[in-house]
Amino acid sequence: MKKEKLYIFDTTLRDGEQTPGVNLMVDEKVQIAKQLEKLGVDVIEAGFAVSSPADFEAVRQIAREVKNSTVCSLARARELDIKTAWEALKEGNRIRIHTFIATSDIHLKYKLKMSREEALKRAVEAVRLIRDISEGKAEVEFSAEDAGRTDLKYLCEVIEAVIDAGADVVNIPDTVGYAVPDEWFERISYIKENVPNIDKAIISVHCHNDLGLATANSLMAVKAGARQVECTVNGIGERAGNAALEEIVMAVKVRSDQFPVYTDIDTKQIYKTSQLVSRLTGIMISKTKPIVGDNAFAHESGIHQHGVLACRETYEIMRPEDIGLTESKIVLGKHSGRHAFKKKLEEMGIELSEEQFEEAFRKFKELSSRKKEIYDVDIELIIEGLEGKDEKLYRLLYNQAVSGEGIIPSATVKIETPEGEKLGLAVGNGPVDATYRAIKNALGIGEEISLKDFKIRALTAGTDALAEVFVTIEGSGIKVSGRGVDPDIVRASALAFLEALDRLYRRKEKREGV
Ligand code: KIV
Ligand code: ZN
Repeated sequence: MKKEKLYIFDTTLRDGEQTPGVNLMVDEKVQIAKQLEKLGVDVIEAGFAVSSPADFEAVRQIAREVKNSTVCSLARARELDIKTAWEALKEGNRIRIHTFIATSDIHLKYKLKMSREEALKRAVEAVRLIRDISEGKAEVEFSAEDAGRTDLKYLCEVIEAVIDAGADVVNIPDTVGYAVPDEWFERISYIKENVPNIDKAIISVHCHNDLGLATANSLMAVKAGARQVECTVNGIGERAGNAALEEIVMAVKVRSDQFPVYTDIDTKQIYKTSQLVSRLTGIMISKTKPIVGDNAFAHESGIHQHGVLACRETYEIMRPEDIGLTESKIVLGKHSGRHAFKKKLEEMGIELSEEQFEEAFRKFKELSSRKKEIYDVDIELIIEGLEGKDEKLYRLLYNQAVSGEGIIPSATVKIETPEGEKLGLAVGNGPVDATYRAIKNALGIGEEISLKDFKIRALTAGTDALAEVFVTIEGSGIKVSGRGVDPDIVRASALAFLEALDRLYRRKEKREGV
Protein backbone atom coordinates (compact mmCIF):
# COMPACT_ATOMS: atom_id res chain seq x y z
CA MET A 1 0.00 0.00 0.00
CA LYS A 2 1.52 3.38 -1.01
CA LYS A 3 1.51 5.61 2.04
CA GLU A 4 0.69 9.31 2.02
CA LYS A 5 1.54 11.77 4.76
CA LEU A 6 -1.12 12.48 7.38
CA TYR A 7 -0.60 15.98 8.76
CA ILE A 8 -1.05 16.33 12.50
CA PHE A 9 -2.56 19.68 13.47
CA ASP A 10 -2.38 20.13 17.22
CA THR A 11 -4.88 22.47 18.84
CA THR A 12 -4.04 21.80 22.51
CA LEU A 13 -3.16 25.48 22.98
CA ARG A 14 -6.37 26.74 21.36
CA ASP A 15 -9.31 24.30 21.52
CA GLY A 16 -7.58 22.46 24.38
CA GLU A 17 -7.26 25.68 26.30
CA GLN A 18 -11.03 26.08 25.99
CA THR A 19 -11.36 23.16 28.45
CA PRO A 20 -13.32 24.48 31.42
CA GLY A 21 -10.91 25.49 34.22
CA VAL A 22 -7.81 25.56 31.98
CA ASN A 23 -6.02 28.86 31.82
CA LEU A 24 -2.40 28.68 30.70
CA MET A 25 0.13 31.48 31.15
CA VAL A 26 2.13 32.65 28.11
CA ASP A 27 5.35 30.99 29.33
CA GLU A 28 3.51 27.72 29.91
CA LYS A 29 2.10 27.83 26.38
CA VAL A 30 5.59 28.41 25.00
CA GLN A 31 6.87 25.43 27.01
CA ILE A 32 4.12 23.19 25.60
CA ALA A 33 4.69 24.49 22.05
CA LYS A 34 8.39 23.62 22.23
CA GLN A 35 7.52 20.11 23.36
CA LEU A 36 4.97 19.80 20.53
CA GLU A 37 7.72 20.78 18.12
CA LYS A 38 9.91 18.00 19.57
CA LEU A 39 6.99 15.60 19.22
CA GLY A 40 7.00 16.47 15.53
CA VAL A 41 3.52 17.91 15.03
CA ASP A 42 3.09 19.60 11.65
CA VAL A 43 0.97 22.50 12.82
CA ILE A 44 0.65 24.10 16.26
CA GLU A 45 -2.50 26.16 16.70
CA ALA A 46 -1.02 28.51 19.29
CA GLY A 47 -4.16 30.48 20.12
CA PHE A 48 -6.82 32.89 18.93
CA ALA A 49 -4.78 36.09 18.67
CA VAL A 50 -7.67 38.56 18.72
CA SER A 51 -9.36 37.01 21.76
CA SER A 52 -7.09 38.60 24.41
CA PRO A 53 -3.73 40.35 24.76
CA ALA A 54 -2.38 37.18 26.43
CA ASP A 55 -3.43 35.02 23.48
CA PHE A 56 -1.83 37.51 21.09
CA GLU A 57 1.42 37.40 23.05
CA ALA A 58 1.42 33.60 23.20
CA VAL A 59 0.94 33.32 19.42
CA ARG A 60 3.66 35.93 18.83
CA GLN A 61 6.22 34.28 21.10
CA ILE A 62 5.51 30.79 19.81
CA ALA A 63 5.78 32.00 16.19
CA ARG A 64 9.17 33.51 17.03
CA GLU A 65 10.54 30.49 18.88
CA VAL A 66 9.20 27.48 16.99
CA LYS A 67 11.05 26.81 13.73
CA ASN A 68 10.15 23.31 12.62
CA SER A 69 6.37 23.23 12.99
CA THR A 70 3.96 25.61 11.29
CA VAL A 71 2.50 28.04 13.84
CA CYS A 72 -1.14 28.98 13.41
CA SER A 73 -3.66 31.41 14.87
CA LEU A 74 -7.41 31.09 14.72
CA ALA A 75 -9.39 34.05 13.29
CA ARG A 76 -13.09 34.51 12.63
CA ALA A 77 -13.92 35.54 9.06
CA ARG A 78 -13.53 39.20 10.04
CA GLU A 79 -10.99 41.82 9.10
CA LEU A 80 -9.89 42.65 12.66
CA ASP A 81 -9.37 38.98 13.57
CA ILE A 82 -7.32 38.32 10.44
CA LYS A 83 -5.19 41.45 10.77
CA THR A 84 -4.51 40.66 14.44
CA ALA A 85 -3.58 37.06 13.63
CA TRP A 86 -1.18 38.30 10.95
CA GLU A 87 0.41 40.82 13.34
CA ALA A 88 1.00 38.05 15.89
CA LEU A 89 2.40 35.58 13.36
CA LYS A 90 4.32 37.66 10.85
CA GLU A 91 7.79 37.11 12.34
CA GLY A 92 7.38 33.34 12.25
CA ASN A 93 9.19 30.88 10.04
CA ARG A 94 6.21 28.83 8.80
CA ILE A 95 2.83 30.31 9.55
CA ARG A 96 -0.85 29.70 8.94
CA ILE A 97 -4.04 31.66 9.56
CA HIS A 98 -7.05 29.49 10.30
CA THR A 99 -10.23 31.36 9.51
CA PHE A 100 -13.73 30.05 10.12
CA ILE A 101 -17.41 30.80 9.80
CA ALA A 102 -20.40 28.66 10.72
CA THR A 103 -22.32 27.12 7.82
CA SER A 104 -25.12 25.06 9.40
CA ASP A 105 -28.62 26.54 9.21
CA ILE A 106 -29.01 26.47 12.98
CA HIS A 107 -25.82 28.55 13.49
CA LEU A 108 -26.64 30.88 10.59
CA LYS A 109 -30.15 31.55 11.86
CA TYR A 110 -29.62 31.86 15.61
CA LYS A 111 -25.95 32.79 16.07
CA LEU A 112 -24.87 34.74 13.01
CA LYS A 113 -28.32 35.89 11.78
CA MET A 114 -26.97 35.60 8.28
CA SER A 115 -28.08 33.98 5.02
CA ARG A 116 -26.19 31.12 3.39
CA GLU A 117 -25.12 33.45 0.55
CA GLU A 118 -23.76 36.01 2.97
CA ALA A 119 -21.75 33.41 4.90
CA LEU A 120 -20.25 32.08 1.67
CA LYS A 121 -19.27 35.61 0.63
CA ARG A 122 -17.67 36.28 4.03
CA ALA A 123 -15.73 33.01 3.84
CA VAL A 124 -14.31 33.88 0.40
CA GLU A 125 -13.42 37.45 1.46
CA ALA A 126 -11.63 36.14 4.56
CA VAL A 127 -9.49 33.73 2.53
CA ARG A 128 -8.62 36.47 0.02
CA LEU A 129 -7.73 38.88 2.80
CA ILE A 130 -5.27 36.39 4.34
CA ARG A 131 -3.64 35.89 0.94
CA ASP A 132 -3.39 39.67 0.35
CA ILE A 133 -2.33 40.80 3.79
CA SER A 134 0.39 38.18 4.14
CA GLU A 135 1.39 38.44 0.45
CA GLY A 136 1.19 34.68 0.27
CA LYS A 137 3.47 34.10 3.27
CA ALA A 138 0.73 32.62 5.47
CA GLU A 139 -0.87 29.32 4.57
CA VAL A 140 -4.65 29.57 4.61
CA GLU A 141 -6.93 27.15 6.37
CA PHE A 142 -10.69 27.54 6.20
CA SER A 143 -13.14 25.83 8.58
CA ALA A 144 -16.88 25.51 8.01
CA GLU A 145 -17.95 25.50 11.65
CA ASP A 146 -20.63 22.89 12.42
CA ALA A 147 -19.96 21.26 9.04
CA GLY A 148 -21.31 18.02 10.48
CA ARG A 149 -24.82 19.51 10.53
CA THR A 150 -24.47 21.62 7.38
CA ASP A 151 -26.52 20.87 4.25
CA LEU A 152 -24.08 18.81 2.22
CA LYS A 153 -24.64 20.50 -1.17
CA TYR A 154 -24.18 23.95 0.36
CA LEU A 155 -21.08 22.74 2.24
CA CYS A 156 -19.57 21.60 -1.07
CA GLU A 157 -20.31 25.02 -2.63
CA VAL A 158 -18.54 26.78 0.24
CA ILE A 159 -15.55 24.47 0.02
CA GLU A 160 -15.25 24.94 -3.75
CA ALA A 161 -15.44 28.73 -3.39
CA VAL A 162 -12.79 29.00 -0.65
CA ILE A 163 -10.42 26.74 -2.58
CA ASP A 164 -10.88 28.98 -5.62
CA ALA A 165 -10.10 31.97 -3.39
CA GLY A 166 -6.82 30.35 -2.29
CA ALA A 167 -7.44 28.10 0.75
CA ASP A 168 -4.69 25.49 1.15
CA VAL A 169 -6.54 23.41 3.72
CA VAL A 170 -10.31 22.93 4.10
CA ASN A 171 -11.33 21.76 7.53
CA ILE A 172 -14.59 19.91 8.15
CA PRO A 173 -15.39 20.14 11.86
CA ASP A 174 -17.88 18.04 13.74
CA THR A 175 -18.22 20.95 16.14
CA VAL A 176 -20.79 19.38 18.42
CA GLY A 177 -19.54 15.77 18.31
CA TYR A 178 -22.76 14.55 16.69
CA ALA A 179 -21.47 12.41 13.84
CA VAL A 180 -21.13 8.62 13.87
CA PRO A 181 -18.29 6.89 12.02
CA ASP A 182 -19.93 5.51 8.86
CA GLU A 183 -21.90 8.73 8.35
CA TRP A 184 -18.69 10.75 8.74
CA PHE A 185 -16.89 8.50 6.24
CA GLU A 186 -19.70 9.13 3.74
CA ARG A 187 -19.67 12.88 4.30
CA ILE A 188 -15.92 13.18 3.70
CA SER A 189 -16.11 10.79 0.70
CA TYR A 190 -18.93 12.88 -0.78
CA ILE A 191 -16.88 16.07 -0.46
CA LYS A 192 -13.87 14.38 -2.04
CA GLU A 193 -15.94 13.13 -4.95
CA ASN A 194 -18.17 16.16 -5.53
CA VAL A 195 -16.06 19.28 -5.00
CA PRO A 196 -14.47 19.79 -8.44
CA ASN A 197 -11.27 21.54 -7.24
CA ILE A 198 -10.76 19.45 -4.08
CA ASP A 199 -7.38 18.13 -5.27
CA LYS A 200 -6.00 21.68 -4.89
CA ALA A 201 -6.41 21.57 -1.09
CA ILE A 202 -5.86 19.23 1.81
CA ILE A 203 -9.01 17.90 3.47
CA SER A 204 -8.86 18.18 7.24
CA VAL A 205 -11.21 17.05 10.01
CA HIS A 206 -11.74 18.34 13.53
CA CYS A 207 -13.87 15.99 15.63
CA HIS A 208 -15.29 16.63 19.07
CA ASN A 209 -15.86 13.81 21.51
CA ASP A 210 -19.37 14.37 22.87
CA LEU A 211 -20.40 10.81 22.00
CA GLY A 212 -16.94 9.35 22.58
CA LEU A 213 -16.47 8.99 18.80
CA ALA A 214 -13.88 11.66 18.02
CA THR A 215 -11.01 9.28 17.33
CA ALA A 216 -13.18 6.81 15.41
CA ASN A 217 -14.65 9.61 13.27
CA SER A 218 -11.21 11.11 12.57
CA LEU A 219 -9.88 7.71 11.48
CA MET A 220 -12.86 7.08 9.21
CA ALA A 221 -12.22 10.48 7.63
CA VAL A 222 -8.63 9.41 6.95
CA LYS A 223 -9.98 6.30 5.20
CA ALA A 224 -12.20 8.58 3.12
CA GLY A 225 -9.28 10.78 2.04
CA ALA A 226 -8.67 13.38 4.79
CA ARG A 227 -4.95 14.09 5.08
CA GLN A 228 -4.94 16.38 8.10
CA VAL A 229 -6.48 15.65 11.49
CA GLU A 230 -6.94 18.23 14.20
CA CYS A 231 -6.46 16.91 17.69
CA THR A 232 -5.24 17.68 21.20
CA VAL A 233 -2.86 16.02 23.62
CA ASN A 234 -4.84 13.85 26.08
CA GLY A 235 -7.98 14.76 24.09
CA ILE A 236 -8.63 17.92 26.11
CA GLY A 237 -10.91 20.62 24.69
CA GLU A 238 -14.39 22.15 24.77
CA ARG A 239 -16.99 20.04 26.64
CA ALA A 240 -15.96 16.38 26.21
CA GLY A 241 -12.84 17.42 24.33
CA ASN A 242 -11.30 16.78 20.92
CA ALA A 243 -9.87 13.72 19.21
CA ALA A 244 -6.76 12.67 21.16
CA LEU A 245 -3.50 13.10 19.27
CA GLU A 246 -1.89 10.04 20.86
CA GLU A 247 -4.83 7.78 19.92
CA ILE A 248 -4.84 8.82 16.28
CA VAL A 249 -1.08 8.62 15.87
CA MET A 250 -0.80 5.20 17.54
CA ALA A 251 -3.85 3.81 15.70
CA VAL A 252 -2.29 4.75 12.37
CA LYS A 253 1.05 3.28 13.43
CA VAL A 254 -0.14 0.07 15.09
CA ARG A 255 -2.76 -0.65 12.39
CA SER A 256 -0.69 0.52 9.46
CA ASP A 257 -2.32 -2.35 7.53
CA GLN A 258 -5.61 -0.42 7.75
CA PHE A 259 -4.55 3.13 6.89
CA PRO A 260 -2.79 4.35 3.73
CA VAL A 261 -0.93 7.05 5.69
CA TYR A 262 2.04 7.71 7.96
CA THR A 263 2.76 10.57 10.36
CA ASP A 264 6.02 12.33 11.20
CA ILE A 265 5.35 12.12 14.92
CA ASP A 266 8.22 10.91 17.11
CA THR A 267 6.03 8.58 19.16
CA LYS A 268 8.73 8.28 21.85
CA GLN A 269 7.86 11.84 22.86
CA ILE A 270 4.16 11.04 23.43
CA TYR A 271 4.30 10.14 27.11
CA LYS A 272 6.45 13.13 28.04
CA THR A 273 4.17 15.50 26.13
CA SER A 274 1.08 14.01 27.73
CA GLN A 275 2.54 14.42 31.22
CA LEU A 276 3.59 18.01 30.55
CA VAL A 277 0.14 18.97 29.27
CA SER A 278 -1.51 17.29 32.24
CA ARG A 279 0.79 19.06 34.70
CA LEU A 280 0.41 22.52 33.24
CA THR A 281 -3.33 22.35 32.56
CA GLY A 282 -4.16 20.61 35.83
CA ILE A 283 -6.28 18.06 33.92
CA MET A 284 -5.42 14.66 35.32
CA ILE A 285 -5.30 11.67 32.97
CA SER A 286 -7.73 8.86 33.69
CA LYS A 287 -5.95 5.60 34.58
CA THR A 288 -7.73 3.80 31.74
CA LYS A 289 -7.09 6.49 29.12
CA PRO A 290 -5.84 4.74 25.95
CA ILE A 291 -2.09 5.05 25.27
CA VAL A 292 -1.14 7.41 28.13
CA GLY A 293 -3.22 6.28 31.14
CA ASP A 294 -1.41 4.61 34.05
CA ASN A 295 -3.07 1.28 33.26
CA ALA A 296 -2.56 1.37 29.49
CA PHE A 297 0.30 -1.15 29.75
CA ALA A 298 -0.57 -2.78 33.08
CA HIS A 299 -1.61 -6.43 33.21
CA GLU A 300 -3.62 -7.32 36.26
CA SER A 301 -5.15 -10.73 35.74
CA GLY A 302 -2.92 -13.74 36.32
CA ILE A 303 -3.79 -15.20 32.93
CA HIS A 304 -2.72 -11.99 31.18
CA GLN A 305 0.49 -11.71 33.22
CA HIS A 306 1.38 -15.27 32.42
CA GLY A 307 0.70 -14.71 28.73
CA VAL A 308 2.79 -11.55 28.56
CA LEU A 309 5.70 -13.21 30.34
CA ALA A 310 5.62 -16.09 27.88
CA CYS A 311 5.20 -13.86 24.80
CA ARG A 312 4.55 -10.16 25.03
CA GLU A 313 2.31 -9.98 21.96
CA THR A 314 -0.29 -12.26 23.58
CA TYR A 315 -1.83 -9.23 25.25
CA GLU A 316 0.23 -6.22 24.09
CA ILE A 317 -0.45 -4.60 20.72
CA MET A 318 2.23 -1.95 21.22
CA ARG A 319 5.21 -1.56 23.50
CA PRO A 320 5.47 1.00 26.30
CA GLU A 321 8.82 2.05 24.81
CA ASP A 322 6.98 3.12 21.62
CA ILE A 323 5.48 6.07 23.47
CA GLY A 324 8.66 6.78 25.44
CA LEU A 325 7.59 5.03 28.59
CA THR A 326 10.56 3.41 30.23
CA GLU A 327 10.21 1.54 33.47
CA SER A 328 10.56 3.86 36.43
CA LYS A 329 14.05 2.82 37.44
CA ILE A 330 15.66 3.43 40.79
CA VAL A 331 18.52 5.58 39.71
CA LEU A 332 20.15 7.06 42.73
CA GLY A 333 20.06 7.07 46.50
CA LYS A 334 21.33 9.23 49.33
CA HIS A 335 24.88 7.93 48.95
CA SER A 336 25.11 8.85 45.29
CA GLY A 337 27.59 11.62 44.70
CA ARG A 338 28.14 14.42 42.26
CA HIS A 339 29.66 12.13 39.63
CA ALA A 340 26.73 9.68 39.60
CA PHE A 341 24.27 12.56 39.47
CA LYS A 342 26.07 14.16 36.54
CA LYS A 343 26.19 10.83 34.68
CA LYS A 344 22.47 10.32 35.24
CA LEU A 345 21.68 13.79 33.86
CA GLU A 346 23.76 12.98 30.77
CA GLU A 347 21.87 9.70 30.26
CA MET A 348 18.59 11.59 30.50
CA GLY A 349 19.80 14.13 27.94
CA ILE A 350 19.63 17.02 30.42
CA GLU A 351 22.14 19.81 29.96
CA LEU A 352 22.68 22.33 32.74
CA SER A 353 24.96 25.30 33.28
CA GLU A 354 27.44 24.94 36.16
CA GLU A 355 25.28 27.11 38.36
CA GLN A 356 22.12 25.14 37.53
CA PHE A 357 23.96 21.88 38.17
CA GLU A 358 24.99 23.03 41.65
CA GLU A 359 21.42 24.02 42.47
CA ALA A 360 20.03 20.73 41.08
CA PHE A 361 22.59 18.72 43.04
CA ARG A 362 21.75 20.57 46.24
CA LYS A 363 18.06 19.81 45.69
CA PHE A 364 18.84 16.17 44.90
CA LYS A 365 20.79 15.79 48.16
CA GLU A 366 18.00 17.46 50.07
CA LEU A 367 15.40 15.14 48.49
CA SER A 368 17.50 12.00 48.96
CA SER A 369 17.84 12.74 52.66
CA ARG A 370 14.02 12.46 52.86
CA LYS A 371 13.35 9.83 50.19
CA LYS A 372 15.17 6.50 49.97
CA GLU A 373 15.01 5.91 46.23
CA ILE A 374 15.28 8.58 43.59
CA TYR A 375 13.61 7.84 40.24
CA ASP A 376 13.90 9.49 36.82
CA VAL A 377 10.67 11.31 37.51
CA ASP A 378 12.15 12.82 40.71
CA ILE A 379 15.05 14.21 38.72
CA GLU A 380 12.76 15.58 36.02
CA LEU A 381 10.79 17.38 38.72
CA ILE A 382 13.95 18.88 40.24
CA ILE A 383 14.96 20.20 36.82
CA GLU A 384 11.48 21.54 36.12
CA GLY A 385 11.58 23.37 39.46
CA LEU A 386 14.85 25.06 38.44
CA GLU A 387 13.28 26.43 35.27
CA GLY A 388 10.39 28.21 36.95
CA LYS A 389 12.31 29.19 40.10
CA ASP A 390 12.90 32.87 39.50
CA GLU A 391 9.34 33.69 38.50
CA LYS A 392 7.56 32.48 41.63
CA LEU A 393 5.90 35.11 43.83
CA TYR A 394 5.80 32.84 46.89
CA ARG A 395 8.28 30.40 48.37
CA LEU A 396 7.32 28.06 51.19
CA LEU A 397 10.17 28.43 53.66
CA TYR A 398 8.75 26.34 56.43
CA ASN A 399 5.64 24.32 57.23
CA GLN A 400 4.54 22.16 60.08
CA ALA A 401 1.24 20.40 60.66
CA VAL A 402 0.10 18.45 63.70
CA SER A 403 -2.80 16.03 63.56
CA GLY A 404 -3.93 12.81 65.19
CA GLU A 405 -6.68 11.14 67.14
CA GLY A 406 -8.10 13.33 69.91
CA ILE A 407 -6.30 16.59 69.04
CA ILE A 408 -7.31 19.63 67.01
CA PRO A 409 -5.24 19.67 63.82
CA SER A 410 -3.06 22.78 63.58
CA ALA A 411 -0.48 24.19 61.17
CA THR A 412 2.23 26.82 60.92
CA VAL A 413 3.72 28.17 57.70
CA LYS A 414 6.41 30.69 56.81
CA ILE A 415 6.26 32.10 53.27
CA GLU A 416 8.68 34.35 51.40
CA THR A 417 6.67 36.96 49.51
CA PRO A 418 7.65 40.06 47.52
CA GLU A 419 6.82 42.06 50.70
CA GLY A 420 9.03 39.93 52.97
CA GLU A 421 8.56 36.82 55.09
CA LYS A 422 5.06 36.10 56.41
CA LEU A 423 4.06 33.73 59.18
CA GLY A 424 0.63 32.07 59.46
CA LEU A 425 -0.94 29.84 62.12
CA ALA A 426 -4.33 28.09 62.03
CA VAL A 427 -6.38 25.15 63.16
CA GLY A 428 -8.57 23.17 60.76
CA ASN A 429 -10.45 19.97 60.05
CA GLY A 430 -7.28 18.11 59.17
CA PRO A 431 -3.60 18.88 58.48
CA VAL A 432 -4.22 20.04 54.89
CA ASP A 433 -7.19 22.20 55.86
CA ALA A 434 -5.18 23.73 58.73
CA THR A 435 -2.24 24.39 56.38
CA TYR A 436 -4.48 26.09 53.79
CA ARG A 437 -5.98 28.27 56.51
CA ALA A 438 -2.46 29.10 57.78
CA ILE A 439 -1.41 30.12 54.24
CA LYS A 440 -4.50 32.30 53.92
CA ASN A 441 -3.73 33.92 57.28
CA ALA A 442 -0.11 34.53 56.33
CA LEU A 443 -1.08 36.18 53.04
CA GLY A 444 -4.14 38.03 54.40
CA ILE A 445 -6.59 36.13 52.18
CA GLY A 446 -10.25 35.78 53.15
CA GLU A 447 -13.36 34.25 51.63
CA GLU A 448 -12.71 35.90 48.24
CA ILE A 449 -10.62 32.90 47.21
CA SER A 450 -12.29 29.52 47.24
CA LEU A 451 -11.02 26.01 46.68
CA LYS A 452 -12.84 24.35 43.78
CA ASP A 453 -10.99 21.07 43.39
CA PHE A 454 -8.33 19.07 45.23
CA LYS A 455 -6.78 15.84 43.93
CA ILE A 456 -3.90 13.82 45.25
CA ARG A 457 -2.03 10.79 43.91
CA ALA A 458 1.24 8.90 44.41
CA LEU A 459 3.72 9.38 41.58
CA THR A 460 6.01 6.49 42.46
CA ALA A 461 5.67 3.33 44.52
CA GLY A 462 6.23 2.84 48.26
CA THR A 463 5.26 4.72 51.40
CA ASP A 464 7.96 7.32 50.69
CA ALA A 465 6.52 7.94 47.20
CA LEU A 466 6.26 11.44 45.83
CA ALA A 467 2.76 12.81 46.31
CA GLU A 468 1.35 14.96 43.52
CA VAL A 469 -1.43 17.38 44.41
CA PHE A 470 -3.56 19.34 41.96
CA VAL A 471 -5.79 22.15 43.21
CA THR A 472 -8.14 24.50 41.43
CA ILE A 473 -9.05 27.78 43.10
CA GLU A 474 -11.29 30.66 42.10
CA GLY A 475 -11.04 34.36 42.89
CA SER A 476 -12.29 37.52 41.14
CA GLY A 477 -14.00 35.35 38.54
CA ILE A 478 -10.74 33.67 37.53
CA LYS A 479 -10.20 29.94 37.90
CA VAL A 480 -6.65 28.57 38.01
CA SER A 481 -4.90 25.34 38.90
CA GLY A 482 -1.69 24.66 40.78
CA ARG A 483 0.40 21.58 41.30
CA GLY A 484 2.74 20.54 44.09
CA VAL A 485 5.02 17.54 44.41
CA ASP A 486 6.78 16.38 47.56
CA PRO A 487 7.18 13.17 49.59
CA ASP A 488 5.22 14.95 52.34
CA ILE A 489 1.55 15.18 51.33
CA VAL A 490 0.88 18.26 53.45
CA ARG A 491 3.81 20.09 51.93
CA ALA A 492 2.78 18.98 48.40
CA SER A 493 -0.70 20.37 49.14
CA ALA A 494 0.76 23.67 50.35
CA LEU A 495 2.99 23.97 47.27
CA ALA A 496 0.01 23.34 44.97
CA PHE A 497 -2.03 26.02 46.74
CA LEU A 498 0.81 28.56 46.55
CA GLU A 499 1.35 27.85 42.84
CA ALA A 500 -2.36 28.40 42.18
CA LEU A 501 -2.29 31.67 44.17
CA ASP A 502 0.78 32.78 42.24
CA ARG A 503 -1.02 32.16 38.93
CA LEU A 504 -4.17 33.86 40.14
CA TYR A 505 -2.34 37.06 41.08
CA ARG A 506 -0.26 37.13 37.93
CA ARG A 507 -3.42 36.68 35.87
CA LYS A 508 -5.25 39.39 37.80
CA GLU A 509 -2.32 41.77 37.28
CA LYS A 510 -2.45 41.07 33.54
CA ARG A 511 -6.18 41.70 33.45
CA GLU A 512 -5.78 44.97 35.30
CA GLY A 513 -2.88 45.95 33.04
CA VAL A 514 -0.34 46.27 35.90
O1 KIV B 1 -15.10 22.89 16.86
C1 KIV B 1 -14.97 23.73 15.94
O2 KIV B 1 -15.77 23.85 15.02
C2 KIV B 1 -13.80 24.60 16.02
C3 KIV B 1 -13.52 25.42 14.81
C4 KIV B 1 -13.12 26.80 15.15
C5 KIV B 1 -12.53 24.72 13.94
O3 KIV B 1 -13.07 24.57 16.98
ZN1 ZN C 1 -13.40 22.66 18.14
